[in-house]
Amino acid sequence: MPVAQANESMVPRSVGQPYAAGNLADRIVLTPGENAATQMAVSFRTDLQQSSAVLEFGPALAGPQVVAKASQVKGDTRRLDAENGPSNYHQVRLEQLSPDTAYAYRVQGSAGWSEWHQFRTAKADFQPFTFLYLGDTQNSILSVASRTIRQALRSVAHPALVVHAGDLVASRDELAHDDEWGEWNQAGGWAYAAIPQLPAAGNHEYIDTLLPDGSESRSLGQHFPAQFALPRNGAAGVRETSYVSDYQGVRFIVLDGTSALDLGSLDSQTKWLENALQSSKAIWNIVLMHQPIYTCARPEDTEELKAAWKPLIERYKVDLVLQGHDHCYSRLSNAAGREASRKAQQTNQPIGPVYMVSVTGSKMYGLNDRAHSQPDRSAEDTQLYQTVAVERNRLSIRTYTADDRLYDAFDIQRDAKGNKYLHEPSLPKPDERFCDKDNGPDGLPCTARDK
Ligand SMILES: [Fe+2]
Repeated sequence: MPVAQANESMVPRSVGQPYAAGNLADRIVLTPGENAATQMAVSFRTDLQQSSAVLEFGPALAGPQVVAKASQVKGDTRRLDAENGPSNYHQVRLEQLSPDTAYAYRVQGSAGWSEWHQFRTAKADFQPFTFLYLGDTQNSILSVASRTIRQALRSVAHPALVVHAGDLVASRDELAHDDEWGEWNQAGGWAYAAIPQLPAAGNHEYIDTLLPDGSESRSLGQHFPAQFALPRNGAAGVRETSYVSDYQGVRFIVLDGTSALDLGSLDSQTKWLENALQSSKAIWNIVLMHQPIYTCARPEDTEELKAAWKPLIERYKVDLVLQGHDHCYSRLSNAAGREASRKAQQTNQPIGPVYMVSVTGSKMYGLNDRAHSQPDRSAEDTQLYQTVAVERNRLSIRTYTADDRLYDAFDIQRDAKGNKYLHEPSLPKPDERFCDKDNGPDGLPCTARDK
């Protein structure tokens, strides 16, 4: 039995323990393929009685007889033993789909089918769309993070994607790991089956392990690769957690900083990143990773990642870098600081990549000394979500607090020469949210702790 079961009695459980696999499929999650116009994948969970991965799909009809035009597709099944008992995780890959087409699908459990879910493939060429970006959901996922996740999901019509910057769950001793994945799925619910999810793996997707020689290492928790049927087109040795997905003219490049730092894949991922950027035909390139290039909470940046990846991110003119890990907010467009950024904006100087850090769940870290002056805008003790509206020559990024108030607004505008400029629309925004010693910005004790 895995370690998780041996420790079962010591680790807290979700209230009511609702997360055992049943005779209908649950944890149904849609992920995009390498080309989101023609490839999607579905992962779901059942009890052991359902021993094979079976999905029906077909064109989404206007009327109710979807089943009449559906056909069956098989996939792969793996058994996963965890605190809620054994289950089967199934993955089915849908290939050769038609671009810009609505499909309906359902998946099979031992007692019958799930409801029909519906998604639309990306268009073959660029068309504007809006996606959501969430930082670490990690802690109090159902009780506290879900409010932010659900607010994000209803903030825009037809969100095309949900991008997760890692640490979706905590995978430590604060809650049974399988309960955390149950909570993660319950928080997003049917939306995760209908809107493609792009997750990066964070350090908390890794589980601490003890090597035979007594030294500590990490290994990827069993849930992440079971829960997400990702494209597997990433760096050598990091196929489960690094990948590239092209969505309607935007290339998303997803890196695994934990594997790079602790499991020796830095060189492999660096080479792969360069290739993914060099070969990109996208009109925007977005890098998604967990550990930030510029930290807003820790005393020091993660220098190994910064040294290897920042030069490539800059040389290949990545537009946006979406990150998590620091449990605070930071929007950084000029490493020299917000004053330099303001002057550059006033004198119409082009910008390089914009680096963002955000957090969705309940755990908060205090800002480090420079996070008040280096990022253009920052926050602590605040749950946030972001919407990113993609146009041909403009990315409009809006950050909202959990109570659905606009917190930050900026656009990256590109001119005919390819130069990019930061534009801050004059929209009403609250003062920056900081703790004042022990006092938090909501008039309650500050929950952000020093990192
Ligand atoms: Fe985290």
